[in-house]
Amino acid sequence: MPERVHNFNPGPATLPYEVLKESARGVVNFKDLGMSIMEISHRSKDFEGLMHDAMADILGLMGLSADEYVVLFLGGGASLQFCMVPDNFLSADQTADYVNTGAWSKAAIKEAKLFGKVNIAATSEDRNFSYVPTAFKLTPGAAYVHVTSNNTIFGTRMTSFPEPGDVPMVCDMSSDFLSRKMDFSRFSLIYAGAQKNIGPAGVTAVIVRKSWVEKAKDGVPTMLSYKTHMSKDSLFNTPPVFPIYVVGLVMKWLKQQGGLEAIEKVNGAKAALVYGAIDGSNGFYRGTVEPASRSIMNLTFRLATEELEGKFIDEAKKKQLIGLKGHRDVGGCRASMYNALPLEAAEKLAEFMEEFRKAN
Ligand SMILES: Cc1ncc(COP(=O)(O)O)c(C=O)c1O
Repeated sequence: MPERVHNFNPGPATLPYEVLKESARGVVNFKDLGMSIMEISHRSKDFEGLMHDAMADILGLMGLSADEYVVLFLGGGASLQFCMVPDNFLSADQTADYVNTGAWSKAAIKEAKLFGKVNIAATSEDRNFSYVPTAFKLTPGAAYVHVTSNNTIFGTRMTSFPEPGDVPMVCDMSSDFLSRKMDFSRFSLIYAGAQKNIGPAGVTAVIVRKSWVEKAKDGVPTMLSYKTHMSKDSLFNTPPVFPIYVVGLVMKWLKQQGGLEAIEKVNGAKAALVYGAIDGSNGFYRGTVEPASRSIMNLTFRLATEELEGKFIDEAKKKQLIGLKGHRDVGGCRASMYNALPLEAAEKLAEFMEEFRKAN
């Protein structure tokens, strides 16, 4: 096995090699302190410094002001945000609007119903989530609107979002966070589990408008309250120190790549190669998503039979193309191509797809 394979895993996913090497050094001896990053105090200046840099880099990359927004580093995965959002912002007598674009939206909706009323503002379930809705039935005066920008499992992404006016908008950006330029200021709260685009599993980035946190409900359990984490600067309790360290390194790497505009170009080029191989295959590969809704992070496709799909995945593995099996709930194939996946990996996959098609 070479030191690096072409890693198309959906998350945990590939990370920049430079970051892995740097974090390996930090694991053994962080900043020549004679201690591992995992051994230093989360209250030390060294840790607080790197955490604040990571927070500032995230806001900088997003073009958001630290006067308006705060970055929180929390545990519990993106899944904990499914209940934290309504726990903080949805009362029993209020309605929240949810856009249902697949499994992760459904998981968020299920939790919201524990706290208040849910209106499904739009859904693409009628065609098995093979597209994203572009028209939304919003509730006047809703507590908030919740969307999922990229559907990891079905391979769709939103490019047009609801425009709810004064109603705050919340976005689960777990699988395309910091992969493309967008007007982030349209959202009042964005959350993303780190393990796809920004780091290892174990930390969730929450970017939230400070003035909205101030309006959050009272009586929320301490650890689930955004007010707690905002007032204590993500240091109410021991935060996930090592994942935050790696997120900080990934943010520096992303800035070196030229930020979101530059990475979006590379991501677009990678996706064009693989969608090109699908669309140019005379139906040998079938994309599962309507072209206008295609994700550039998770590319889903099918072959004629499950047997052929199995063969495709096995032979790809022999060429060091790893992680191409679709999600267990939907089957088929999926190539996840997050920021850190090099262009070369997409080239190799497109070449292999062509070879495999000719041979089969
Ligand atoms: C869009 C989206 N939301 C939420 C989750 C759940 O994330 P976690 O495992 O961090 O709870 C995932 C995981 O794949 C996801 O893709």
